[in-house]
Amino acid sequence: MPDVDGMKEAKMFHCDTPQENQGFFLKGSSSLDWGMKNRLARIFNPKSGRTVMLAIDHGYFQGPTTGLERVDINILPIAPYADTLMLTRGILRSIIPPSTSQSIVLRVSGGTSILKELSNEEIAVDIEDSIRLNVCAMAVQVFIGGEYERQSIINMTKMVDLGNRYGIPTLAVTAVGKDMARDAKYFRLACRICAELGAHYIKTYYVEKDFETVTASCPVPIVMAGGKKIPELDALTMAYNAVQGGAAGVDMGRNIFQSDAPIAMIKAVRAVVHDEENPKRAFELYNSLKKSKV
Ligand code: R5P
Repeated sequence: MPDVDGMKEAKMFHCDTPQENQGFFLKGSSSLDWGMKNRLARIFNPKSGRTVMLAIDHGYFQGPTTGLERVDINILPIAPYADTLMLTRGILRSIIPPSTSQSIVLRVSGGTSILKELSNEEIAVDIEDSIRLNVCAMAVQVFIGGEYERQSIINMTKMVDLGNRYGIPTLAVTAVGKDMARDAKYFRLACRICAELGAHYIKTYYVEKDFETVTASCPVPIVMAGGKKIPELDALTMAYNAVQGGAAGVDMGRNIFQSDAPIAMIKAVRAVVHDEENPKRAFELYNSLKKSKV
């Protein structure tokens, strides 16, 4: 019966319901292509809009860092609690099981060690290898004000160009030299330069005064860098203040894997980042998990 078929068809086409135009949950990322957005959505949780990245890439310039001597033994048990692992291709290929469904942020700059001038980096990974490894972003160190400032900025812009070609986001990591001021003015400058030159998101340090001006003046998401190990309550407070100040999550290493109870610590960090838990309650969670040896 043609009439009945016609009615059924009209129903299936939902002709009276316009297709929704979907926005994208991440700051400054709406105009990116599908692949780029899909990779970012594997790094940042689309529900909270935030990420807990576990940084274990320290070996690329400082060798077997405390807590990372045996990534297979010390890190693999913590790794599943992170949204993303930030590491080198050496550790990825040799230690991380390819069966993982976790997103990977690959360190792609390098070429220096703690024995030399750190800002003298080059791009140390071919884009083809990032594609081969199915990574969700590529991390490049940028040394604003450093001796090799220009070279490190160009490293980043080259990765942005290559990443744009293949749909892989670039994470700019703002590195601070030993004698440089760590204040909001400096981080506003560093983050804004990276964003203006195309970085898709930026890792930078938390500062107590005016951190919200760093996030506000940066048109793309910022994740808070962890830095050297501090007491757990202080680290949780710093992460809390950073996300309340506009950071879209954290990228922490030593404050997680050098903790007395790394799994308890990463769970407490998750509570602060994804569930808006306050530092005191997150610290209580840490202590209770630590006690029950979780
Ligand atoms: C340095 O800038 C690197 O990105 C580090 O290897 C790492 O990501 C730092 O992590 P954290 O300071 O939290 O230990």
